[in-house]
Amino acid sequence: MKQIIRTALVMSIGLMSTQCNTAQQPTTAQQTETVEQTQTPTARASSTADPRMRQFVDSLLSQMTLEEKIGQLNLVSVGFDVTGPVVSQNVDENIRKGNVGGVFNTYTPVAARKLQEFAVNNTRLKIPLLFGYDVIHGHRTIFPIPLGLSASWDLEAIERSARIAADEASADGLNWVYSPMVDIARDPRWGRISEGAGEDPYLGSEIARAMVHGYQGDDLTKENTVMATVKHFALYGASEAGRDYNTVDMSLNRMFNEYMPPYKAAIEAGVGSVMTSFNDINGVPATGNRWLMTELLREQWGFDGFVVTDYTAINEMIAHGMGDEAKVGELALTAGSDMDMVGEVFLRHLKQSVEKGNVSEEEINTAARRILEAKYKLGLFEDPYRYTDEQRAKTTIMKPEYREAARDIARRSMVLLKNSKQTLPLKKSGTIALIGPLANNQRDLIGNWSGAGDWKQAVSVEQGIKNVAGNGVKINYAKGANITDDEQMIKRLNAHGGELQLDKRTSEQMIAEAVKVARASDVIVAVVGESQGMSGEAASRADIGLPGKQRELLMALKKTGKPLVVVLMNGRPLTLTWEDQNVDAILETWFAGTEAGNAIADVLFGNYNPSGKITATFPQMVGQIPLYYAHKNTGRPFNGDLLNKYTTRYMDVTNEPLYPFGFGLSYTSFTYSKPQLSKTSISPSENLEVSVQVQNTGNYDGEEVVQLYVQDVVASITRPVKELKGFQKINLKKGESRTVTFTLTPEHLKFYNNDLDFVLEPGEFKVYVGTNSRDVQEASFTVTQ
Ligand code: BGC
Repeated sequence: MKQIIRTALVMSIGLMSTQCNTAQQPTTAQQTETVEQTQTPTARASSTADPRMRQFVDSLLSQMTLEEKIGQLNLVSVGFDVTGPVVSQNVDENIRKGNVGGVFNTYTPVAARKLQEFAVNNTRLKIPLLFGYDVIHGHRTIFPIPLGLSASWDLEAIERSARIAADEASADGLNWVYSPMVDIARDPRWGRISEGAGEDPYLGSEIARAMVHGYQGDDLTKENTVMATVKHFALYGASEAGRDYNTVDMSLNRMFNEYMPPYKAAIEAGVGSVMTSFNDINGVPATGNRWLMTELLREQWGFDGFVVTDYTAINEMIAHGMGDEAKVGELALTAGSDMDMVGEVFLRHLKQSVEKGNVSEEEINTAARRILEAKYKLGLFEDPYRYTDEQRAKTTIMKPEYREAARDIARRSMVLLKNSKQTLPLKKSGTIALIGPLANNQRDLIGNWSGAGDWKQAVSVEQGIKNVAGNGVKINYAKGANITDDEQMIKRLNAHGGELQLDKRTSEQMIAEAVKVARASDVIVAVVGESQGMSGEAASRADIGLPGKQRELLMALKKTGKPLVVVLMNGRPLTLTWEDQNVDAILETWFAGTEAGNAIADVLFGNYNPSGKITATFPQMVGQIPLYYAHKNTGRPFNGDLLNKYTTRYMDVTNEPLYPFGFGLSYTSFTYSKPQLSKTSISPSENLEVSVQVQNTGNYDGEEVVQLYVQDVVASITRPVKELKGFQKINLKKGESRTVTFTLTPEHLKFYNNDLDFVLEPGEFKVYVGTNSRDVQEASFTVTQ
């Protein structure tokens, strides 16, 4: 795919350069004068409250024609791969006419500068372009997929990954990124669960804030910060049956308590833009949903940035049954969508809509103002070329310390799911049977949505083991199985950037070779899982077990009697009941990024003691989905009494997950005391302190994520059996113990009632503290009237 991408870019830039006379470029000062005769933009503030920005944009708007204002609302894709059916046409001509407000899918300082020069030199008002891109988990240096990042529960590390991504992206011509994706996801069939922080609104909100701050820093005009986009607004993760783009129908109570908090957190953190989602919400597609984007987002939450639609999401409202192209364009604009991603509906129809009186010019002004303000906030009117410094690109992109950070952050994201008989860590001696289709793979390691990442830079597991264990370890490799044997699926994956090659041997031959290799070794490390394209957009799976013949491979390996370590790579929770019961150790590594192999080897050989915890429940079987820890009680909770038929349960499987939310082991062990409360009764305005003594009782130094959950026992609406309200990642030396204290504030105890008031209802509460959402100890307190 890289090849296709490059060629497309060069072609499109080539076209530009033949039409662009660089000798006639005005200086920055000249451009500024043309745009604004009386004011000099200082572009230092970042809110609509900034009077200089207001004046500057007022003046600019007063010089613009209706067509030019509509042009600002048009976002085109130049050159690269696309995620939908339409590719932008006649880009150069449209830029020249002032019909383009921003481009996406173009990067490198040279390419971005060419396009920016073209826009600035060839348009009447010389308004610079926004340059957007899907920078999702790193730009060139790739970090673990977001689901993996979230499993670190390490806000500092997550923010650091976004900061590095912003530094690289801004050095690479970009000023606007389509991240963070904060959609709560409780259905692992949905491929896009890989792109977010999992199932929990509290953790999701903390991560949303960390990422926005990582990208935007404290000053958007700095050359190394970029504008972030929180997406997909809203509720995209609740698509029915985990099928992508599907219907969402949800009670307001669930919406506000469980799904909305991370979006709101990103808005409060000052995110510059919001992207709409493809799904409908209770009957109205998000992109045309005025309640969502105007009443809630702007009027209630006070968002003052701009809203970009998702890719051709306006056009897609036709298929949703909302009317013809002109109608859906009007719907989107009047609902509060400011920028049309690739679909060009605004460009084709809004002028006539204004003429017909279906849309007011004031509404167009409002949307155009928001786009111009974003450009002002980024300092683009001051210097349109701020993000196109070739020298900075050379010294910034993939510098050694960024690769080192990627290795460190990748290690922090890995989750030890099983480790019987202390199979791990491995000794740095003897012979390892390194088996599996992902064992010497590079392409899959950087995961999906790693647009500008170069998989050839990724460190394979085989290479990582050599780097970490050195010559003391002998590696015997066998592929053992294809990731999948489904030729149609391989074709589809490869059409979208996969590099899968089907080994033509029969699975029996491949397994026989692997068994032979295993027999001749001391320990087996089987690296199995999904291909990166099996999760992400449009990558839902109905069966979320190990694909292809990989489980058969593990079954055969088990029969050798050798210690069997499974290293997993995947973009979603998988169903792993057999694996859990039969192999000796399981290390979940997600798709860990550029430094994956080194980071995995660091964990396998004990250079790093794993500390990650899963952020989405792993079910026992698909039929249990949706399965999440913060569920409500029914009137007939299951109590373990097998003969009691009339309780909430299945006939054929328990209600328990395979691995609960927050679960993850360490090479050491931790013991917890019972939680101590500072008081057993508080008033509704008081804080409560919860303390617990945690001790490292094992043989290694290690980190532990101490988790605190709360249950509102009696309330005016049914409440979850527990909800995460605090966590601390602590580092304890072997034998060390520490008191961990959490402060619960009234905010932590509030919820949206059925009138959507955010209230604290007095009464009994329970507090649970522990190492995951299941293994906890409790205490209770009362909130008085
Ligand atoms: C995805 C977005 C992405 C956009 C631009 C869409 O298909 O849903 O997450 O940002 O494409 O590539």
